[in-house]
Amino acid sequence: PSDMVGYQREIRSLVEQQNAIILAHNYQPAWIKEVADISGDSLYLSRQASDTDATTIIFCGVRFMAETAKILSPEKRVVLPADDAECSLADSITESDLRAWRTEYPDAIVVAYVNTSAAVKAQADVCCTSANAVEIVASIPHHRELLFLPDQFLGAYVQRMTGHPNMHIWMGECHVHADISPEHLESKMLDNPMATLMVHPECGCTTPALYQLADPSSAPTRQRVSILSTNQMIEEAKTTTARHVLVATEIGIMSDLQAANPDVRFEAVNPEARCPYMNRITPQRLLDSITSTTDEVVVVPDTAARARLAVERMVHPEL
Ligand code: 13P
Ligand code: SF4
Repeated sequence: PSDMVGYQREIRSLVEQQNAIILAHNYQPAWIKEVADISGDSLYLSRQASDTDATTIIFCGVRFMAETAKILSPEKRVVLPADDAECSLADSITESDLRAWRTEYPDAIVVAYVNTSAAVKAQADVCCTSANAVEIVASIPHHRELLFLPDQFLGAYVQRMTGHPNMHIWMGECHVHADISPEHLESKMLDNPMATLMVHPECGCTTPALYQLADPSSAPTRQRVSILSTNQMIEEAKTTTARHVLVATEIGIMSDLQAANPDVRFEAVNPEARCPYMNRITPQRLLDSITSTTDEVVVVPDTAARARLAVERMVHPEL
Protein backbone atom coordinates (compact mmCIF):
# COMPACT_ATOMS: atom_id res chain seq x y z
CA PRO A 1 0.00 0.00 0.00
CA SER A 2 1.16 3.54 -0.73
CA ASP A 3 -0.48 5.30 2.23
CA MET A 4 -2.01 4.72 5.68
CA VAL A 5 -5.57 4.42 4.39
CA GLY A 6 -4.39 1.76 1.92
CA TYR A 7 -2.68 -0.16 4.75
CA GLN A 8 -5.73 0.08 6.99
CA ARG A 9 -7.98 -1.22 4.19
CA GLU A 10 -5.69 -4.16 3.47
CA ILE A 11 -5.29 -4.98 7.17
CA ARG A 12 -9.09 -5.03 7.67
CA SER A 13 -9.61 -7.23 4.65
CA LEU A 14 -7.06 -9.82 5.84
CA VAL A 15 -8.49 -9.73 9.38
CA GLU A 16 -11.97 -10.60 8.05
CA GLN A 17 -10.60 -13.43 5.86
CA GLN A 18 -8.70 -14.98 8.77
CA ASN A 19 -11.53 -14.82 11.36
CA ALA A 20 -9.17 -12.66 13.39
CA ILE A 21 -9.71 -9.78 15.79
CA ILE A 22 -7.40 -6.83 16.48
CA LEU A 23 -7.16 -5.74 20.13
CA ALA A 24 -5.29 -2.48 20.81
CA HIS A 25 -4.18 -1.03 24.14
CA ASN A 26 -5.13 2.60 24.86
CA TYR A 27 -1.45 3.60 24.59
CA GLN A 28 -1.20 2.46 20.97
CA PRO A 29 -0.91 5.12 18.27
CA ALA A 30 -4.16 6.48 16.80
CA TRP A 31 -3.82 4.72 13.42
CA ILE A 32 -3.77 1.33 15.18
CA LYS A 33 -6.77 2.11 17.39
CA GLU A 34 -8.63 3.21 14.22
CA VAL A 35 -8.01 -0.12 12.50
CA ALA A 36 -8.58 -2.24 15.63
CA ASP A 37 -11.83 -4.02 16.49
CA ILE A 38 -11.54 -3.09 20.15
CA SER A 39 -9.32 -0.79 22.19
CA GLY A 40 -9.08 -0.58 25.94
CA ASP A 41 -7.01 -1.02 29.09
CA SER A 42 -5.23 -4.20 30.20
CA LEU A 43 -8.22 -5.60 32.12
CA TYR A 44 -10.80 -4.88 29.44
CA LEU A 45 -8.62 -6.36 26.69
CA SER A 46 -7.93 -9.52 28.75
CA ARG A 47 -11.69 -9.96 29.13
CA GLN A 48 -12.23 -9.44 25.42
CA ALA A 49 -9.47 -11.94 24.61
CA SER A 50 -11.08 -14.53 26.83
CA ASP A 51 -14.60 -13.97 25.40
CA THR A 52 -13.99 -13.62 21.65
CA ASP A 53 -15.12 -16.21 19.09
CA ALA A 54 -12.33 -15.21 16.71
CA THR A 55 -9.71 -17.91 16.13
CA THR A 56 -6.80 -15.45 15.86
CA ILE A 57 -6.10 -12.54 18.21
CA ILE A 58 -3.77 -9.84 16.86
CA PHE A 59 -2.61 -8.09 20.02
CA CYS A 60 -1.42 -4.52 19.43
CA GLY A 61 0.29 -3.82 22.71
CA VAL A 62 3.30 -5.37 24.40
CA ARG A 63 4.39 -8.95 25.02
CA PHE A 64 2.89 -9.51 28.49
CA MET A 65 -0.55 -8.54 27.12
CA ALA A 66 -0.34 -11.00 24.24
CA GLU A 67 0.95 -13.69 26.61
CA THR A 68 -1.99 -13.05 28.94
CA ALA A 69 -4.38 -13.55 26.01
CA LYS A 70 -2.60 -16.82 25.13
CA ILE A 71 -2.81 -18.03 28.75
CA LEU A 72 -6.56 -17.36 28.75
CA SER A 73 -7.16 -18.87 25.29
CA PRO A 74 -4.47 -21.49 24.63
CA GLU A 75 -6.37 -22.92 21.67
CA LYS A 76 -6.30 -19.59 19.82
CA ARG A 77 -3.55 -18.22 17.64
CA VAL A 78 -2.27 -15.07 19.38
CA VAL A 79 -0.04 -12.73 17.42
CA LEU A 80 2.18 -9.87 18.62
CA PRO A 81 3.04 -7.75 15.56
CA ALA A 82 6.37 -6.57 17.03
CA ASP A 83 8.66 -9.16 18.63
CA ASP A 84 10.61 -6.36 20.36
CA ALA A 85 7.57 -4.92 22.18
CA GLU A 86 8.71 -5.65 25.73
CA CYS A 87 7.95 -3.75 28.97
CA SER A 88 10.45 -2.25 31.43
CA LEU A 89 8.06 -2.89 34.32
CA ALA A 90 7.58 -6.58 33.45
CA ASP A 91 11.38 -6.83 33.15
CA SER A 92 11.86 -5.48 36.68
CA ILE A 93 11.21 -8.89 38.23
CA THR A 94 12.39 -12.26 36.90
CA GLU A 95 11.19 -15.75 37.60
CA SER A 96 14.22 -16.40 39.83
CA ASP A 97 13.84 -13.06 41.67
CA LEU A 98 10.34 -14.10 42.64
CA ARG A 99 11.39 -17.62 43.59
CA ALA A 100 14.01 -16.18 45.96
CA TRP A 101 11.57 -13.61 47.41
CA ARG A 102 9.00 -16.33 48.09
CA THR A 103 11.49 -18.32 50.16
CA GLU A 104 11.57 -15.36 52.59
CA TYR A 105 7.75 -15.46 52.92
CA PRO A 106 6.79 -19.07 52.21
CA ASP A 107 3.14 -18.67 53.26
CA ALA A 108 2.50 -15.36 51.52
CA ILE A 109 -0.19 -14.77 48.94
CA VAL A 110 1.45 -13.53 45.74
CA VAL A 111 -0.37 -10.75 43.87
CA ALA A 112 1.22 -10.11 40.47
CA TYR A 113 0.38 -7.10 38.37
CA VAL A 114 -0.50 -8.19 34.85
CA ASN A 115 2.69 -6.42 33.65
CA THR A 116 4.80 -9.54 34.31
CA SER A 117 6.15 -12.45 32.27
CA ALA A 118 4.17 -15.69 32.01
CA ALA A 119 6.83 -17.40 34.14
CA VAL A 120 6.27 -14.88 36.95
CA LYS A 121 2.48 -15.24 36.66
CA ALA A 122 2.94 -19.01 36.99
CA GLN A 123 4.15 -18.40 40.58
CA ALA A 124 1.32 -16.01 41.49
CA ASP A 125 -1.92 -16.71 43.31
CA VAL A 126 -3.78 -13.86 41.67
CA CYS A 127 -3.07 -11.26 39.01
CA CYS A 128 -4.43 -7.73 38.91
CA THR A 129 -4.37 -4.64 36.73
CA SER A 130 -4.46 -0.97 37.66
CA ALA A 131 -8.26 -1.14 37.30
CA ASN A 132 -8.80 -3.74 40.04
CA ALA A 133 -5.62 -3.89 42.19
CA VAL A 134 -7.28 -2.19 45.18
CA GLU A 135 -10.28 -4.51 45.04
CA ILE A 136 -8.11 -7.63 44.79
CA VAL A 137 -5.80 -6.70 47.67
CA ALA A 138 -8.80 -5.63 49.76
CA SER A 139 -10.17 -9.17 49.45
CA ILE A 140 -7.05 -10.69 51.11
CA PRO A 141 -7.36 -11.12 54.89
CA HIS A 142 -5.11 -8.85 56.93
CA HIS A 143 -3.47 -11.70 58.84
CA ARG A 144 -2.00 -13.11 55.60
CA GLU A 145 1.45 -12.04 54.40
CA LEU A 146 1.12 -10.59 50.91
CA LEU A 147 3.76 -10.10 48.22
CA PHE A 148 2.77 -7.41 45.71
CA LEU A 149 4.83 -7.07 42.54
CA PRO A 150 6.45 -5.56 40.59
CA ASP A 151 5.35 -1.89 40.65
CA GLN A 152 6.39 0.14 43.71
CA PHE A 153 4.14 3.13 42.95
CA LEU A 154 1.00 1.08 42.35
CA GLY A 155 1.95 -1.00 45.42
CA ALA A 156 2.25 2.05 47.67
CA TYR A 157 -1.09 3.36 46.40
CA VAL A 158 -2.85 0.03 46.96
CA GLN A 159 -1.35 -0.25 50.46
CA ARG A 160 -2.58 3.22 51.27
CA MET A 161 -6.10 2.49 49.95
CA THR A 162 -6.50 -0.91 51.61
CA GLY A 163 -4.44 -0.41 54.79
CA HIS A 164 -3.22 -4.01 54.39
CA PRO A 165 -0.71 -4.41 57.26
CA ASN A 166 1.30 -7.34 55.88
CA MET A 167 1.92 -6.19 52.34
CA HIS A 168 5.47 -6.39 50.97
CA ILE A 169 6.12 -4.46 47.77
CA TRP A 170 8.68 -5.19 45.05
CA MET A 171 10.58 -2.03 44.09
CA GLY A 172 10.09 -2.24 40.33
CA GLU A 173 8.88 0.52 38.04
CA CYS A 174 7.84 1.40 34.52
CA HIS A 175 10.48 3.81 33.22
CA VAL A 176 7.86 5.88 31.34
CA HIS A 177 5.51 6.37 34.30
CA ALA A 178 8.31 6.74 36.87
CA ASP A 179 9.48 9.67 34.77
CA ILE A 180 6.22 11.53 35.36
CA SER A 181 7.72 12.98 38.50
CA PRO A 182 6.48 15.01 41.48
CA GLU A 183 8.40 17.96 39.98
CA HIS A 184 6.57 17.68 36.66
CA LEU A 185 3.26 17.55 38.47
CA GLU A 186 4.03 20.38 40.86
CA SER A 187 5.07 22.73 38.10
CA LYS A 188 1.95 21.95 35.99
CA MET A 189 -0.30 22.43 39.02
CA LEU A 190 1.31 25.74 39.90
CA ASP A 191 0.85 26.95 36.32
CA ASN A 192 -2.75 25.70 36.17
CA PRO A 193 -4.25 26.08 39.64
CA MET A 194 -7.83 25.50 38.45
CA ALA A 195 -7.14 22.32 36.48
CA THR A 196 -8.36 18.90 37.56
CA LEU A 197 -5.97 15.93 37.53
CA MET A 198 -6.14 12.34 36.29
CA VAL A 199 -3.20 10.20 37.37
CA HIS A 200 -2.28 6.60 36.53
CA PRO A 201 -1.15 4.77 39.70
CA GLU A 202 2.17 3.68 38.10
CA CYS A 203 3.34 7.32 37.99
CA GLY A 204 6.34 8.54 39.97
CA CYS A 205 4.24 11.54 41.05
CA THR A 206 1.89 9.37 43.16
CA THR A 207 3.33 10.56 46.47
CA PRO A 208 1.53 10.62 49.86
CA ALA A 209 0.81 14.33 49.24
CA LEU A 210 -1.04 13.39 46.08
CA TYR A 211 -3.07 10.66 47.83
CA GLN A 212 -4.18 13.33 50.26
CA LEU A 213 -5.56 15.41 47.39
CA ALA A 214 -7.17 12.32 45.84
CA ASP A 215 -9.01 11.42 49.05
CA PRO A 216 -12.58 12.76 48.73
CA SER A 217 -12.94 13.00 52.52
CA SER A 218 -9.92 15.29 52.84
CA ALA A 219 -10.56 17.57 49.85
CA PRO A 220 -11.87 20.84 51.27
CA THR A 221 -13.91 22.07 48.30
CA ARG A 222 -13.94 19.72 45.35
CA GLN A 223 -12.09 16.60 44.42
CA ARG A 224 -9.30 17.67 42.13
CA VAL A 225 -7.38 14.44 41.73
CA SER A 226 -8.44 10.99 40.54
CA ILE A 227 -6.11 7.99 40.39
CA LEU A 228 -7.34 5.82 37.52
CA SER A 229 -6.59 3.08 35.00
CA THR A 230 -6.65 4.19 31.37
CA ASN A 231 -10.22 2.99 30.68
CA GLN A 232 -11.38 4.70 33.86
CA MET A 233 -9.76 7.92 32.56
CA ILE A 234 -11.73 7.69 29.30
CA GLU A 235 -14.96 7.07 31.23
CA GLU A 236 -14.29 10.02 33.53
CA ALA A 237 -13.43 12.22 30.52
CA LYS A 238 -16.92 11.67 29.07
CA THR A 239 -18.71 13.12 32.09
CA THR A 240 -16.26 15.53 33.70
CA THR A 241 -17.47 19.01 34.50
CA ALA A 242 -13.88 20.32 34.45
CA ARG A 243 -12.76 22.62 31.63
CA HIS A 244 -9.07 21.73 31.86
CA VAL A 245 -7.66 18.35 32.87
CA LEU A 246 -4.00 17.52 33.49
CA VAL A 247 -3.24 13.91 32.62
CA ALA A 248 -0.39 11.87 34.11
CA THR A 249 0.15 8.76 32.00
CA GLU A 250 1.59 7.57 28.68
CA ILE A 251 0.61 10.13 26.03
CA GLY A 252 -0.90 7.64 23.52
CA ILE A 253 -4.18 8.05 25.39
CA MET A 254 -4.42 11.82 24.89
CA SER A 255 -6.27 11.57 21.55
CA ASP A 256 -8.87 9.21 23.09
CA LEU A 257 -9.51 11.60 25.97
CA GLN A 258 -9.91 14.50 23.58
CA ALA A 259 -12.28 12.46 21.40
CA ALA A 260 -14.28 11.41 24.47
CA ASN A 261 -14.94 15.04 25.35
CA PRO A 262 -13.95 17.64 22.72
CA ASP A 263 -15.09 20.56 24.93
CA VAL A 264 -12.45 19.92 27.58
CA ARG A 265 -8.76 20.76 27.30
CA PHE A 266 -6.65 17.69 28.19
CA GLU A 267 -2.98 18.40 28.82
CA ALA A 268 -0.19 15.90 29.49
CA VAL A 269 1.72 16.38 32.77
CA ASN A 270 4.83 15.14 30.98
CA PRO A 271 4.39 15.47 27.20
CA GLU A 272 7.54 13.33 26.70
CA ALA A 273 5.97 10.29 28.39
CA ARG A 274 5.87 8.04 25.35
CA CYS A 275 6.44 4.30 25.72
CA PRO A 276 8.94 3.11 23.09
CA TYR A 277 7.62 -0.47 23.30
CA MET A 278 4.03 0.58 22.65
CA ASN A 279 5.23 2.26 19.45
CA ARG A 280 7.08 -0.62 17.82
CA ILE A 281 4.30 -1.70 15.43
CA THR A 282 4.51 -0.28 11.91
CA PRO A 283 1.78 -0.59 9.25
CA GLN A 284 3.89 -3.16 7.37
CA ARG A 285 4.57 -5.17 10.56
CA LEU A 286 0.88 -5.27 11.41
CA LEU A 287 -0.06 -6.30 7.88
CA ASP A 288 2.61 -9.04 7.75
CA SER A 289 1.73 -10.36 11.20
CA ILE A 290 -1.82 -11.34 10.26
CA THR A 291 -0.62 -14.24 8.15
CA SER A 292 2.82 -14.80 9.66
CA THR A 293 3.84 -17.81 11.73
CA THR A 294 6.90 -16.13 13.25
CA ASP A 295 4.93 -13.46 15.16
CA GLU A 296 2.85 -16.03 16.97
CA VAL A 297 3.13 -15.85 20.76
CA VAL A 298 4.22 -19.06 22.43
CA VAL A 299 3.78 -19.71 26.15
CA VAL A 300 5.16 -23.07 27.29
CA PRO A 301 1.99 -25.10 28.00
CA ASP A 302 3.08 -26.09 31.51
CA THR A 303 3.83 -22.42 32.38
CA ALA A 304 0.50 -21.33 30.89
CA ALA A 305 -1.39 -23.98 32.85
CA ARG A 306 0.23 -22.82 36.12
CA ALA A 307 -0.47 -19.13 35.33
CA ARG A 308 -4.08 -19.64 34.21
CA LEU A 309 -5.82 -19.68 37.58
CA ALA A 310 -4.14 -16.43 38.70
CA VAL A 311 -5.11 -14.73 35.43
CA GLU A 312 -8.67 -16.09 35.55
CA ARG A 313 -9.08 -14.75 39.08
CA MET A 314 -8.15 -11.31 37.69
CA VAL A 315 -10.57 -11.52 34.77
CA HIS A 316 -13.46 -13.07 36.75
CA PRO A 317 -12.95 -12.07 40.40
CA GLU A 318 -16.45 -13.39 41.16
CA LEU A 319 -15.25 -17.00 40.56
P1 13P B 1 -3.83 0.00 32.15
O1 13P B 1 -4.00 -0.90 33.32
O2 13P B 1 -4.65 1.22 32.25
O3 13P B 1 -4.04 -0.77 30.91
O4 13P B 1 -2.31 0.55 32.05
C1 13P B 1 -1.24 -0.21 32.39
C2 13P B 1 -0.06 -0.14 31.54
O5 13P B 1 0.93 0.44 31.87
C3 13P B 1 -0.03 -0.84 30.29
O6 13P B 1 1.22 -0.76 29.76
FE1 SF4 C 1 5.47 -1.26 30.19
FE2 SF4 C 1 5.44 1.25 30.97
FE3 SF4 C 1 5.37 0.73 28.41
FE4 SF4 C 1 3.22 0.19 29.93
S1 SF4 C 1 4.06 2.20 29.50
S2 SF4 C 1 4.17 -1.12 28.39
S3 SF4 C 1 4.20 -0.38 31.85
S4 SF4 C 1 7.07 0.25 29.78
